[in-house]
Amino acid sequence: MSYYALVPAAGSGARMGGAQPKQYLSLLGQPLIRHTLRTLCAVPTLEAVFVVLSREDAEWDRYDWSEFGDRLVTLRCGGETRAESVCNGLRAMQEWAFPDDWVLVHDAARACLTPAHVAALIAAVGDDEVGGILAVPVADTLKRADGTQRIDATVPRDQLWQAQTPQMFRHGPLLDALQRCPAVTDEASAIEAQGLHPRLVQGDITNLKVTWPLDLQLAGWILEQRS
Ligand code: CTP
Ligand code: MG
Repeated sequence: MSYYALVPAAGSGARMGGAQPKQYLSLLGQPLIRHTLRTLCAVPTLEAVFVVLSREDAEWDRYDWSEFGDRLVTLRCGGETRAESVCNGLRAMQEWAFPDDWVLVHDAARACLTPAHVAALIAAVGDDEVGGILAVPVADTLKRADGTQRIDATVPRDQLWQAQTPQMFRHGPLLDALQRCPAVTDEASAIEAQGLHPRLVQGDITNLKVTWPLDLQLAGWILEQRS
């Protein structure tokens, strides 16, 4: 049984509002996605790292990725949505992966992932029947809005977690689940829709998803503190 990483990187970064997709924005002098790939390629348990690019991607080839050697495989099969990109990537991976192999799906935009985050997930989920995800318990009080930006209700936060990535499932069941439930925003949702209950593995907030311009500054600060 093998472990692989699959990195969806075919988004446009609309909320970031930059001229290029956010995975190529400069983070400490490197395209953001290089930080993500460096972490994943440094995890010895992972046999290979697959990155899903948009078919129209004009940026990838401008950079030198040779540091990753054959541990990195590029798949130009991105879709309209994140779920479609992941699903297409899983289909393309069938050339390498068996249905029982583990796949760790990780957002390209989570550039502050560490090998320790990945190790914690694998240690907690490697023997699990279903699979699991990194997540953090919700810390803030939650409000539901009424449509006019006034508070309709306070939502109890006990038992609520914020989902992160990597999300780790077996290749065959994950591909099946995503084919049946294409309208999901993460892999776990598709698995849940099959009546299964993925494990929650506590991560931490440094594994943020770079979504808004301020997140890029935060990510830079987090990476600098470590070096
Ligand atoms: N992603 C993808 N294919 C898509 C959309 C998103 O592979 N059609 C990837 C992104 O590149 C990113 C990850 O999924 O690494 C998480 O998605 P998100 O943070 O929403 O990125 P974008 O969709 O690029 O950003 P936005 O929603 O602001 O446009
Ligand atoms: Mg998006």
